[in-house]
Amino acid sequence: MTATTAEPTTGSHDTSQIPAPEGSVTITVKILRFNPELDTDPHWESYDVPALPTDRVLNLLTNIKSYVDGTLSFRRSCAHGICGSDAMQINGINRLACKVLVKDLLAKKGKPTTVSVAPIKGLTTMKDLYVDMEPFFEAYRAVKPYLIAYGNEPTRERIQSAADRERFDDTTKCILCAACTSSCPVYWSDGSYFGPAAIVNAHRFIFDSRDEGSEERLDILNDAEGVWRCRTTFNCTDACPRGIQVTKAIQEVKRALMFKRV
Ligand code: SF4
Ligand code: FES
Repeated sequence: MTATTAEPTTGSHDTSQIPAPEGSVTITVKILRFNPELDTDPHWESYDVPALPTDRVLNLLTNIKSYVDGTLSFRRSCAHGICGSDAMQINGINRLACKVLVKDLLAKKGKPTTVSVAPIKGLTTMKDLYVDMEPFFEAYRAVKPYLIAYGNEPTRERIQSAADRERFDDTTKCILCAACTSSCPVYWSDGSYFGPAAIVNAHRFIFDSRDEGSEERLDILNDAEGVWRCRTTFNCTDACPRGIQVTKAIQEVKRALMFKRV
């Protein structure tokens, strides 16, 4: 079931058990819920949650899960923007729930604040906010995201200049959250496209002077489902929580293929 963000049918809940610290405001959190054992389609549920301006959306979800409905399902681990597990659509935009502060979502003074939370698109929703990441990781694995070196093992570390390291510095920052891939209209329309994240992770090794697998990876990305499917919409760059220049990386891979030069 691929969840959509169609007009909500909203059910509300008693949230009086959630502690309301001094200075908290009430945020209405609308979550696109889906339980494959009970539902045929996703539907919106609404929760009025007390929150401090310094809370993150992840805190709101955790409070709903802890005090209102333990069946609410979402992935999270580090809560600090590092593990990449809590990408979701927050007010229609792909974000990490642990990085979005309540104070940045507040409506104008005196107006109620509503925040919508839905699963990322293009991947099958397994339950509520968590999606099947396997197609995403399959594309990632397909581009051989590891150092390939042939011949004898060196007896010391593989030396690299600062300038050579700089060529792929940006793409080392990827945390595999899928915010980019699941914001890509080409990926939504045809899940067989490798998607931006796989290309970013190929870029990280293609432009590494110590790697000897660039040609293999470029051959893989020259495929019908490879880089040429990119329509340069920049959604991926806008969505990336690590600030990676995703579209630029894709363009560099395209150029490497066109000019046979890395
Ligand atoms: S490139 Fe950015 S948005 Fe895409 S998977 Fe990596 S960290 Fe997430
Ligand atoms: S919980 Fe780890 S990135 Fe958000």
